[in-house]
Amino acid sequence: MTTVITYGTFDLFHQGHYNLLKRAKELGDFLIVGVTGETYDVERGKLSVQDSLATRIENVKATGFADKIIVEEYLGQKIPDIIKYHVDIFAIGSDWKGKFDHIGKYCQIVYLERTKNISSTLLRESNMSIYNFGIVTDSLYDNETVIEPKIVSGIHVESVYSPKPDVAKQFSEIYELNAGFSNYKEFLQDTDIVYIKMPRNQRKEYVVEAIRNKKHVICDMPITMDAEEEQEILNYANRNGVSLFCNVMTLYQHAFGQLLWMARGNLIGDLVSIKCSISRSAFDKKCEFDFMDLAYYPICVITKIMGSEYDSVHSKLIKDGEEIAYGVITFDYQNAVAVAEVSMDLDVSGSMTIVGTNGEITIPEDWWRMGYFKLRNWSEPRAKHYSSNFEGNGFRYLIQAILSDIRMESSDTTRITLSEHRSITEILNMVQ
Ligand code: CTP
Repeated sequence: MTTVITYGTFDLFHQGHYNLLKRAKELGDFLIVGVTGETYDVERGKLSVQDSLATRIENVKATGFADKIIVEEYLGQKIPDIIKYHVDIFAIGSDWKGKFDHIGKYCQIVYLERTKNISSTLLRESNMSIYNFGIVTDSLYDNETVIEPKIVSGIHVESVYSPKPDVAKQFSEIYELNAGFSNYKEFLQDTDIVYIKMPRNQRKEYVVEAIRNKKHVICDMPITMDAEEEQEILNYANRNGVSLFCNVMTLYQHAFGQLLWMARGNLIGDLVSIKCSISRSAFDKKCEFDFMDLAYYPICVITKIMGSEYDSVHSKLIKDGEEIAYGVITFDYQNAVAVAEVSMDLDVSGSMTIVGTNGEITIPEDWWRMGYFKLRNWSEPRAKHYSSNFEGNGFRYLIQAILSDIRMESSDTTRITLSEHRSITEILNMVQ
């Protein structure tokens, strides 16, 4: 008996999938089909899958070609499956040629010709409205904001605006965009979602003008240092029916959502303290964060975890000439304390520790790029490790969140609320 295995997402089941399964079945006597699980798809950056796992399995089953259906739940599952099920042939579409050569040691690989002119991506895009994405910047540094949104179905990265005409021209050439504008009104005309990547003192005017033109906005934070003004901007976005998202990528990572609700859900008891450190050197050298931009990250994350009901805030800033080089910000809560260590030029560890009355959550490094954390409850014998891989630099997860919000499919549970926004901006002002 010849056993054949093949894998896929099989979203919006189409003729290409049918042909592939038919040909795979013809290669042997017994066909196993691995359908990707939802968490696995999210972790590998495939964010736009529409059908549930149950529907995708039903559709594969309905072809009558599969003798067994399994779920592909993690990277590295294929070889154990091949060994476990005594597979003779691994079949996959020709678009994957070369990607699975390592499997050749365990069974024969057959690449089947891909059916032309059809894919789940094409179907998704034909069913949904497409949003044009534009970037507002004054530098040529893109921080992958061009590549990342392209991964999400329903987004076309089209144009750039810069107040500096030569930057607009060069940026659009380097990143192969359709247009580079130095007139903001013209740029806004063909754009649905605007990403404002500008120095802090210029963000507000671009955000307000975009909202006035009923555009959805993603903005580097803080938008302004004035808490009242910021509330007005957030309310203005609400009244205009547009989404306004802040570019703190940590908030949109799966592992952060998990950590947040575990910490708030009493899994380590009542929260007693949180300490986190962040250093500019961990970001790309070209990233133009100043002290307040960098401090926004820990203050935002502490506020999400500990709440906005702090009693007092104090800070100690170490200056190098006029510039802040290093600072420690401490917030006192009624029964807890939070400490953010922010370093512009010195290397600090980038760790986070949350202490509760019954346990502790730790992230040894780079908590803002959260892929992993450890939870220790003192009543249990061992620590538990939680990890959730993510692809790229995380920006695509933010894009997916704003798209879901625009389409009113779901609202993000880790998004900053109005009162949290107010609290973060007030704290930033106290640090000055
Ligand atoms: N496939 C095919 N012909 C197509 C589309 C897919 O032969 N036109 C094959 C793929 O090569 C793979 C299997 O079907 O072996 C499952 O593919 P999947 O990634 O689920 O489908 P796509 O349509 O390629 O999905 P997407 O557009 O989301 O990448």
